[in-house]
Amino acid sequence: MKIRPLAETIEPQCGQFYMLQSCDNYDPLLKRPLSIFNFDEKYLQFLFRIKGKGTSYLSKVKAGDIIHLIGPLGNGYLEPKGDFIIVAGGIGIASLMPLLVKFRKKAILFFGARNSNELLMVDAAYDMAINSYVSTDDGSIGYKGLITDLLTDFIKSNHYSKELPIYCCGSIPMFKTLKSIIERHNMTCYASIEEYMACGVGACLGCVVKIKSDEEGGFSYKRVCKEGPVFNLRDLIWQ
Ligand SMILES: Cc1cc2nc3c(=O)[nH]c(=O)nc-3n(C[C@H](O)[C@H](O)[C@H](O)COP(=O)(O)OP(=O)(O)OC[C@H]3O[C@@H](n4cnc5c(N)ncnc54)[C@H](O)[C@@H]3O)c2cc1C
Ligand code: FES
Repeated sequence: MKIRPLAETIEPQCGQFYMLQSCDNYDPLLKRPLSIFNFDEKYLQFLFRIKGKGTSYLSKVKAGDIIHLIGPLGNGYLEPKGDFIIVAGGIGIASLMPLLVKFRKKAILFFGARNSNELLMVDAAYDMAINSYVSTDDGSIGYKGLITDLLTDFIKSNHYSKELPIYCCGSIPMFKTLKSIIERHNMTCYASIEEYMACGVGACLGCVVKIKSDEEGGFSYKRVCKEGPVFNLRDLIWQ
């Protein structure tokens, strides 16, 4: 979905997001978070999967309709200084695409999805990466299995890769596997994570996650919309 802002906007950073709502009704009441997928001086672009009411209404917006959005929001990815690794799971590519565009031919791309239909924008992503590795759960394209299997093999046979930071966005099972990989190899990984959001601006505390800290108990709560959505994967604690 391509949007032309009607007011002056701040240029988004890679990994930031917007809260969007189709204008013609307030059902659902709350705006929905979507990562910035692409942008230029005139347009903002989003890539999204239809899940429920909010995204379904957004998918029905027609050329010329007006929608409400707030953004750019949150803290995006710390920009890479040299080559880096991207691990995208399914629609997670939406959040990572701005890094591929801005740092053309600097990323080694690992892109996994359930099947070939869910490997969205894979050709564009291939073009912008140094090298690409693709997997699908059903084997319809690329390796049949998990993208983290391909990453593990890659790290084993390319020792220099342990020095490269990983940027990832995908599902919680993917993050958990990645976390054990980076801990094993002492690597750095920045993960953009999803949580249900109500306000998107840090006011409602509806989107908190547990993060390792020096505070009593060894953790503190951080708001995905304000301190995130990108966190150091090592610091994330899942129940
Ligand atoms: C920072 C951020 C960036 C995001 N960027 C994108 C993007 O670029 N493209 C994209 O397709 N999606 C993205 N999402 C997820 C997207 O916001 C949800 O899919 C959307 O809010 C669902 O709203 P809905 O009204 O369509 O569905 P709902 O009716 O609200 O939900 C339908 C189902 O989707 C699941 N769900 C809803 N919201 C979330 C959530 N936040 N996290 C996990 N599961 C959820 C639930 O299982 C629910 O049953 C992002 C989420 C966050 C927090
Ligand atoms: S969504 Fe309200 S604090 Fe994050």
